[in-house]
Amino acid sequence: MAREYFTHKGVLFPCLDYSPEKLSYVENEFQVRDDDIFNIAYLKSGTNWMLEILSLIRCDGDPGWVRSVLNWERAPWVESQLGLEAALKYPPPRLLCSHLPVQLFPKSLQRSKAKVRGGRSPADQGGGAGWCQLWSHRAALPCTVPYGSWFDHVTGWMGLKGNENFFSITYEELQQDPWGSVRRICHFLGKELSEEQVAAVVENASFQSMKGNKMSNYSQQRDEFMDHQNGEFLRKGICGDWRNHLSEAQSQRFDTVYRERMQGLGMTFPWD
Ligand code: PPS
Repeated sequence: MAREYFTHKGVLFPCLDYSPEKLSYVENEFQVRDDDIFNIAYLKSGTNWMLEILSLIRCDGDPGWVRSVLNWERAPWVESQLGLEAALKYPPPRLLCSHLPVQLFPKSLQRSKAKVRGGRSPADQGGGAGWCQLWSHRAALPCTVPYGSWFDHVTGWMGLKGNENFFSITYEELQQDPWGSVRRICHFLGKELSEEQVAAVVENASFQSMKGNKMSNYSQQRDEFMDHQNGEFLRKGICGDWRNHLSEAQSQRFDTVYRERMQGLGMTFPWD
Protein backbone atom coordinates (compact mmCIF):
# COMPACT_ATOMS: atom_id res chain seq x y z
CA MET A 1 0.00 0.00 0.00
CA ALA A 2 1.95 3.01 -1.29
CA ARG A 3 1.82 6.06 0.95
CA GLU A 4 2.57 9.39 -0.63
CA TYR A 5 1.63 12.71 0.86
CA PHE A 6 1.19 16.34 -0.10
CA THR A 7 0.98 19.42 2.06
CA HIS A 8 -2.08 21.65 1.90
CA LYS A 9 -2.02 24.90 3.89
CA GLY A 10 0.68 23.44 6.10
CA VAL A 11 -1.16 20.18 6.79
CA LEU A 12 -0.10 16.79 5.44
CA PHE A 13 -2.62 14.64 3.49
CA PRO A 14 -2.27 11.26 1.74
CA CYS A 15 -2.33 11.62 -2.08
CA LEU A 16 -4.68 8.66 -2.26
CA ASP A 17 -8.23 10.06 -2.44
CA TYR A 18 -7.27 13.63 -1.42
CA SER A 19 -6.33 16.64 -3.54
CA PRO A 20 -5.63 20.33 -2.87
CA GLU A 21 -8.47 21.29 -5.24
CA LYS A 22 -11.06 19.18 -3.43
CA LEU A 23 -9.81 20.33 -0.03
CA SER A 24 -10.21 23.95 -1.16
CA TYR A 25 -13.70 23.18 -2.47
CA VAL A 26 -14.63 21.59 0.86
CA GLU A 27 -13.31 24.57 2.81
CA ASN A 28 -14.75 27.35 0.65
CA GLU A 29 -17.73 26.02 -1.27
CA PHE A 30 -19.20 22.99 0.45
CA GLN A 31 -22.57 23.99 1.88
CA VAL A 32 -23.27 22.74 5.38
CA ARG A 33 -26.99 22.19 5.95
CA ASP A 34 -28.79 23.00 9.21
CA ASP A 35 -29.86 19.36 9.52
CA ASP A 36 -26.36 17.91 9.00
CA ILE A 37 -24.75 15.95 11.81
CA PHE A 38 -20.94 16.00 11.74
CA ASN A 39 -18.82 13.41 13.52
CA ILE A 40 -15.40 15.04 13.84
CA ALA A 41 -12.33 13.52 15.44
CA TYR A 42 -8.61 13.21 15.05
CA LEU A 43 -7.31 9.93 13.58
CA LYS A 44 -7.54 6.84 15.77
CA SER A 45 -9.82 8.50 18.30
CA GLY A 46 -12.88 6.28 17.92
CA THR A 47 -14.34 8.10 14.90
CA ASN A 48 -15.80 4.86 13.55
CA TRP A 49 -17.19 3.89 16.94
CA MET A 50 -19.08 7.17 17.09
CA LEU A 51 -20.18 6.70 13.47
CA GLU A 52 -21.73 3.39 14.52
CA ILE A 53 -23.40 4.93 17.58
CA LEU A 54 -24.86 7.78 15.50
CA SER A 55 -26.06 5.32 12.84
CA LEU A 56 -27.80 3.22 15.49
CA ILE A 57 -29.34 6.21 17.26
CA ARG A 58 -30.77 7.28 13.89
CA CYS A 59 -32.47 3.84 13.69
CA ASP A 60 -33.64 3.74 17.34
CA GLY A 61 -31.12 0.97 18.11
CA ASP A 62 -32.27 -1.27 15.23
CA PRO A 63 -29.11 -2.84 13.71
CA GLY A 64 -30.63 -3.31 10.22
CA TRP A 65 -28.89 -0.29 8.68
CA VAL A 66 -25.44 -0.91 10.22
CA ARG A 67 -25.56 -4.54 9.12
CA SER A 68 -26.56 -3.80 5.52
CA VAL A 69 -24.77 -0.56 4.51
CA LEU A 70 -21.02 0.11 4.63
CA ASN A 71 -20.04 2.57 7.34
CA TRP A 72 -18.29 4.98 4.95
CA GLU A 73 -21.53 5.13 2.93
CA ARG A 74 -23.66 5.71 6.03
CA ALA A 75 -21.44 8.65 7.02
CA PRO A 76 -18.95 9.72 4.32
CA TRP A 77 -15.70 11.54 5.14
CA VAL A 78 -16.41 14.89 3.53
CA GLU A 79 -12.77 15.82 2.79
CA SER A 80 -11.88 12.72 0.75
CA GLN A 81 -12.71 12.77 -2.95
CA LEU A 82 -15.01 9.74 -2.78
CA GLY A 83 -16.53 10.94 0.48
CA LEU A 84 -17.24 14.36 -0.97
CA GLU A 85 -19.01 12.84 -3.98
CA ALA A 86 -21.13 10.73 -1.60
CA ALA A 87 -21.84 13.72 0.67
CA LEU A 88 -23.06 15.80 -2.26
CA LYS A 89 -25.50 13.04 -3.27
CA TYR A 90 -26.60 12.19 0.30
CA PRO A 91 -30.32 12.83 0.84
CA PRO A 92 -30.84 14.98 3.97
CA PRO A 93 -30.55 14.66 6.88
CA ARG A 94 -26.88 13.83 6.31
CA LEU A 95 -24.57 12.02 8.68
CA LEU A 96 -21.00 13.03 7.83
CA CYS A 97 -17.53 12.43 9.24
CA SER A 98 -14.33 14.46 9.16
CA HIS A 99 -10.78 14.37 10.46
CA LEU A 100 -10.13 17.94 9.30
CA PRO A 101 -8.61 20.55 11.59
CA VAL A 102 -11.05 23.37 12.25
CA GLN A 103 -9.28 25.88 9.98
CA LEU A 104 -9.79 23.67 6.91
CA PHE A 105 -13.41 22.75 7.70
CA PRO A 106 -16.22 24.13 5.47
CA LYS A 107 -16.58 27.83 6.26
CA SER A 108 -20.34 27.52 5.76
CA LEU A 109 -20.52 25.78 9.16
CA GLN A 110 -20.39 29.24 10.75
CA ARG A 111 -23.71 30.17 9.14
CA SER A 112 -25.45 26.88 9.90
CA LYS A 113 -27.11 25.14 12.82
CA ALA A 114 -25.55 21.78 11.95
CA LYS A 115 -24.75 19.63 14.94
CA VAL A 116 -21.08 18.88 15.49
CA ARG A 117 -19.79 16.09 17.67
CA GLY A 118 -16.11 16.59 18.33
CA GLY A 119 -13.96 13.77 19.63
CA ARG A 120 -11.39 14.96 22.09
CA SER A 121 -8.93 12.44 20.90
CA PRO A 122 -7.25 9.95 23.10
CA ALA A 123 -3.77 10.63 24.32
CA ASP A 124 -4.45 7.60 26.47
CA GLN A 125 -5.74 5.17 23.86
CA GLY A 126 -3.67 2.63 21.97
CA GLY A 127 -2.51 3.33 18.47
CA GLY A 128 1.06 2.20 18.84
CA ALA A 129 4.40 3.72 19.52
CA GLY A 130 4.59 5.27 16.08
CA TRP A 131 1.63 7.52 16.71
CA CYS A 132 2.67 8.41 20.23
CA GLN A 133 6.19 9.20 19.15
CA LEU A 134 4.94 11.38 16.35
CA TRP A 135 2.56 13.12 18.70
CA SER A 136 5.18 13.77 21.31
CA HIS A 137 8.22 14.58 19.18
CA ARG A 138 6.61 16.38 16.29
CA ALA A 139 3.27 17.36 17.70
CA ALA A 140 3.97 21.03 17.47
CA LEU A 141 4.60 20.79 13.73
CA PRO A 142 1.37 20.28 11.78
CA CYS A 143 3.14 19.28 8.57
CA THR A 144 4.83 16.17 9.98
CA VAL A 145 1.82 13.94 10.69
CA PRO A 146 -1.19 13.34 8.44
CA TYR A 147 -4.09 15.71 9.20
CA GLY A 148 -1.80 17.88 11.29
CA SER A 149 -0.94 18.03 14.94
CA TRP A 150 -3.26 16.35 17.46
CA PHE A 151 -2.83 19.38 19.72
CA ASP A 152 -3.85 21.80 16.98
CA HIS A 153 -6.83 19.63 16.10
CA VAL A 154 -8.13 19.35 19.65
CA THR A 155 -7.47 22.92 20.73
CA GLY A 156 -8.87 24.24 17.43
CA TRP A 157 -12.16 22.35 17.69
CA MET A 158 -12.51 22.98 21.41
CA GLY A 159 -12.80 26.64 20.49
CA LEU A 160 -16.43 25.77 19.68
CA LYS A 161 -17.05 24.60 23.25
CA GLY A 162 -20.08 26.34 24.68
CA ASN A 163 -21.80 26.56 21.30
CA GLU A 164 -25.20 24.83 21.63
CA ASN A 165 -24.64 22.92 18.38
CA PHE A 166 -21.32 21.49 19.55
CA PHE A 167 -20.87 18.39 21.70
CA SER A 168 -17.57 16.80 22.68
CA ILE A 169 -16.79 13.47 24.24
CA THR A 170 -13.64 11.37 24.70
CA TYR A 171 -12.92 7.78 23.78
CA GLU A 172 -12.33 7.17 27.49
CA GLU A 173 -15.77 8.48 28.45
CA LEU A 174 -17.36 6.16 25.90
CA GLN A 175 -15.42 3.23 27.38
CA GLN A 176 -16.14 4.12 31.00
CA ASP A 177 -19.87 4.81 30.62
CA PRO A 178 -21.32 3.72 27.28
CA TRP A 179 -24.96 3.94 28.42
CA GLY A 180 -24.58 7.40 29.93
CA SER A 181 -22.59 8.54 26.88
CA VAL A 182 -25.28 7.34 24.46
CA ARG A 183 -27.97 9.08 26.54
CA ARG A 184 -25.95 12.33 26.47
CA ILE A 185 -25.49 12.08 22.70
CA CYS A 186 -29.22 11.42 22.23
CA HIS A 187 -30.03 14.44 24.36
CA PHE A 188 -27.70 16.61 22.28
CA LEU A 189 -29.35 15.35 19.08
CA GLY A 190 -32.82 15.99 20.51
CA LYS A 191 -33.68 12.32 20.14
CA GLU A 192 -34.79 10.53 23.30
CA LEU A 193 -34.60 6.74 23.19
CA SER A 194 -36.09 4.23 25.62
CA GLU A 195 -33.83 2.24 27.97
CA GLU A 196 -34.17 -0.78 25.65
CA GLN A 197 -33.23 1.29 22.61
CA VAL A 198 -30.19 2.78 24.38
CA ALA A 199 -29.13 -0.76 25.37
CA ALA A 200 -29.52 -1.84 21.73
CA VAL A 201 -27.32 1.06 20.56
CA VAL A 202 -24.61 0.16 23.12
CA GLU A 203 -24.75 -3.55 22.29
CA ASN A 204 -24.75 -3.15 18.50
CA ALA A 205 -21.91 -0.59 18.64
CA SER A 206 -19.76 -2.69 20.97
CA PHE A 207 -16.22 -3.61 19.92
CA GLN A 208 -17.24 -7.25 19.40
CA SER A 209 -20.35 -6.38 17.38
CA MET A 210 -18.40 -4.02 15.14
CA LYS A 211 -15.53 -6.48 14.74
CA GLY A 212 -17.97 -9.12 13.55
CA ASN A 213 -19.88 -6.78 11.21
CA LYS A 214 -18.34 -6.66 7.74
CA MET A 215 -20.14 -3.36 7.12
CA SER A 216 -18.18 -1.79 10.00
CA ASN A 217 -14.86 -3.62 10.28
CA TYR A 218 -13.29 -2.45 6.98
CA SER A 219 -12.82 -6.03 5.74
CA GLN A 220 -14.66 -4.88 2.56
CA GLN A 221 -12.35 -1.92 1.96
CA ARG A 222 -10.14 -2.02 -1.13
CA ASP A 223 -6.47 -2.92 -0.60
CA GLU A 224 -5.21 0.48 -1.69
CA PHE A 225 -7.19 2.11 1.13
CA MET A 226 -6.63 -0.46 3.86
CA ASP A 227 -3.51 -2.41 4.79
CA HIS A 228 -5.21 -5.78 5.28
CA GLN A 229 -1.82 -7.54 5.56
CA ASN A 230 -0.90 -5.83 8.81
CA GLY A 231 -3.85 -6.64 11.01
CA GLU A 232 -7.46 -5.69 11.42
CA PHE A 233 -8.86 -2.18 11.71
CA LEU A 234 -10.51 -2.99 15.05
CA ARG A 235 -7.23 -3.92 16.71
CA LYS A 236 -7.62 -3.84 20.52
CA GLY A 237 -10.23 -1.24 21.37
CA ILE A 238 -8.84 -0.44 24.81
CA CYS A 239 -7.55 2.59 26.72
CA GLY A 240 -3.99 2.82 27.95
CA ASP A 241 -2.27 0.59 25.40
CA TRP A 242 0.47 3.22 25.16
CA ARG A 243 2.00 1.53 28.21
CA ASN A 244 2.86 -1.42 25.99
CA HIS A 245 4.56 0.76 23.41
CA LEU A 246 6.22 3.80 24.98
CA SER A 247 9.42 3.77 26.97
CA GLU A 248 9.57 5.76 30.21
CA ALA A 249 11.55 8.50 28.41
CA GLN A 250 9.01 8.71 25.57
CA SER A 251 6.15 8.84 28.04
CA GLN A 252 7.81 11.69 29.97
CA ARG A 253 8.51 13.54 26.75
CA PHE A 254 4.86 13.24 25.77
CA ASP A 255 3.74 14.49 29.22
CA THR A 256 5.99 17.55 28.85
CA VAL A 257 4.68 18.46 25.41
CA TYR A 258 1.13 17.77 26.56
CA ARG A 259 1.47 20.15 29.53
CA GLU A 260 3.02 22.84 27.34
CA ARG A 261 0.39 22.66 24.64
CA MET A 262 -2.73 22.15 26.79
CA GLN A 263 -2.05 24.52 29.66
CA GLY A 264 -4.45 27.39 30.09
CA LEU A 265 -7.16 25.84 27.91
CA GLY A 266 -9.42 25.09 30.86
CA MET A 267 -10.01 21.60 29.52
CA THR A 268 -9.89 18.48 31.64
CA PHE A 269 -9.33 15.04 30.23
CA PRO A 270 -10.07 11.69 31.87
CA TRP A 271 -6.36 10.88 31.90
CA ASP A 272 -5.26 14.17 33.55
S1 PPS B 1 -9.55 6.22 11.90
O1 PPS B 1 -9.07 5.24 10.91
O2 PPS B 1 -8.50 7.22 12.16
O3 PPS B 1 -10.81 6.87 11.49
O4 PPS B 1 -9.76 5.40 13.26
P1 PPS B 1 -10.81 5.70 14.42
O5 PPS B 1 -12.12 5.09 14.06
O6 PPS B 1 -10.81 7.14 14.78
O7 PPS B 1 -10.16 4.90 15.64
C1 PPS B 1 -9.85 3.53 15.55
C2 PPS B 1 -9.72 2.98 16.96
O8 PPS B 1 -11.03 2.93 17.58
C3 PPS B 1 -11.25 1.60 18.05
N1 PPS B 1 -12.68 1.26 18.05
C4 PPS B 1 -13.33 0.88 19.15
N2 PPS B 1 -12.93 0.79 20.44
C5 PPS B 1 -13.84 0.35 21.33
N3 PPS B 1 -15.10 0.01 21.02
C6 PPS B 1 -15.56 0.10 19.75
N4 PPS B 1 -16.81 -0.24 19.45
C7 PPS B 1 -14.65 0.56 18.75
N5 PPS B 1 -14.73 0.77 17.41
C8 PPS B 1 -13.52 1.20 17.00
C9 PPS B 1 -10.48 0.75 17.05
O9 PPS B 1 -10.32 -0.56 17.52
C10 PPS B 1 -9.19 1.55 16.95
O10 PPS B 1 -8.38 1.42 18.13
P2 PPS B 1 -7.23 0.30 18.30
O11 PPS B 1 -6.51 0.72 19.54
O12 PPS B 1 -6.37 0.37 17.08
O13 PPS B 1 -7.96 -1.01 18.46
